[in-house]
Amino acid sequence: MRLIVKPAVSPLSGRVSPPGDKSVSHRAAIFGGLARGTSRIEGFLTAEDTLATLSAMAELGARVERDGRSVEIEGRGLRGPGRPLDLGNSGTGIRLLAGALCGHPDLFGASVELIGDASLSRRPMNRIIEPLAAMGARIESRDGRAPLVLRPGPLRAVDHELSIASAQVKSAILLAGLNARGRTQVVEPGVSRDHTERLLPAFGVAVERAEGRAEVMGPAGLDAASIAVPGDLSSAAFMLAAGLLVPGSRVDIGPVGVNPTRDGFLRIVERMAGSAVTRRPVAEAGAGAEPVAMLETVAPDQLAGTRVPPAWVPLAIDEFPLIMAMAAVADGATVITGAEELRVKESDRLAVMSRQLGRLGVRVEEHADGATVYGGRVRGGGVDSGGDHRIAMSLAVLALVAEAPVEIADAEWIRTSYPAFVEHLESLGARLQWQ
Ligand code: S3P
Repeated sequence: MRLIVKPAVSPLSGRVSPPGDKSVSHRAAIFGGLARGTSRIEGFLTAEDTLATLSAMAELGARVERDGRSVEIEGRGLRGPGRPLDLGNSGTGIRLLAGALCGHPDLFGASVELIGDASLSRRPMNRIIEPLAAMGARIESRDGRAPLVLRPGPLRAVDHELSIASAQVKSAILLAGLNARGRTQVVEPGVSRDHTERLLPAFGVAVERAEGRAEVMGPAGLDAASIAVPGDLSSAAFMLAAGLLVPGSRVDIGPVGVNPTRDGFLRIVERMAGSAVTRRPVAEAGAGAEPVAMLETVAPDQLAGTRVPPAWVPLAIDEFPLIMAMAAVADGATVITGAEELRVKESDRLAVMSRQLGRLGVRVEEHADGATVYGGRVRGGGVDSGGDHRIAMSLAVLALVAEAPVEIADAEWIRTSYPAFVEHLESLGARLQWQ
């Protein structure tokens, strides 16, 4: 479907409460299904990615009841599913489940097939297959890609040093470690989001942590828990950017999770927009220990281009399509380096975003590990999401300050993470239309 976005003719204003955090919702669904007893999850993200993970847990034997954003999930021990588990577009779903299931004793003797859509089936899975195989896991793949067939059996604990800062790989190994005897340790080359380490203790599993490392002792079972999922900063970022781009706007967003391993976007925005965003901390969300805040934005006169420190890349990993969109109207150049991981996300985000910005008249130089975006004027016209939800939403936000309407093809991918995106932007005064 095509989304047509008209340039804003007046400032945006209002308050948006973003949907539940995608990363935390995946983990809450998986941990709830693994735990014995009934877990309650409030604020669950009801989007395609996380609903796929919830369905997978039901196929594996959990009883799941959902009423809007409230989920009750009762773990009753796992059973081999009768059919492949379809994780759709979700890298987090497939990688965390592979780790959690490959050594699960309830599944010994069974086989579990994990599949996904065309985009997920192109993404690299060796990054989890290799460390899990070193623990003794048996996983077949199609040349290091999904479908994955797991033949669960006993695992041994490992010390693993990651070659990339990836929360998905770290989490897959830690979850496998819960089924291995002894201490499984993961050492990271840089900081990646720590939702797994924060949430496991709420389910009764201790996680030892120090700078750049996390460890669990296995075997360890999970206890049922009550979880409040914070708002998703990666979704809130689109509303925030809209509020910063459209002159004269004042937009409040929250409550939203501001976990310091996830707040790179806010740090980069501070460089581009000075003090245009005020964070007001809200009480901790409780179980899961995620810090939460309200974000108040006042549009600055002009955004400034910036050089993004490579160490911040993992902290803002999902926000680069949006940062590139904002850079298109900033004063001067914005330089992104050390970001080759963007090439193996839902799309090759460096290539797709560079090309789509080019179609709107923006000057972009794509590099192997990043891009340089030169700020200037943005034309209207036709662009394409490349089958990537975050690219569709980034282009929609940029379209608010284009010289003429922008038509975004394949924009329905937005539903994978933020089904209320169009409605939320409209509530602030933006004009969008599906066609
Ligand atoms: C996620 C980790 C990141 C991120 C993804 C969610 C997670 O992926 O891009 O959207 O929930 O652990 P990588 O671990 O591949 O960097």
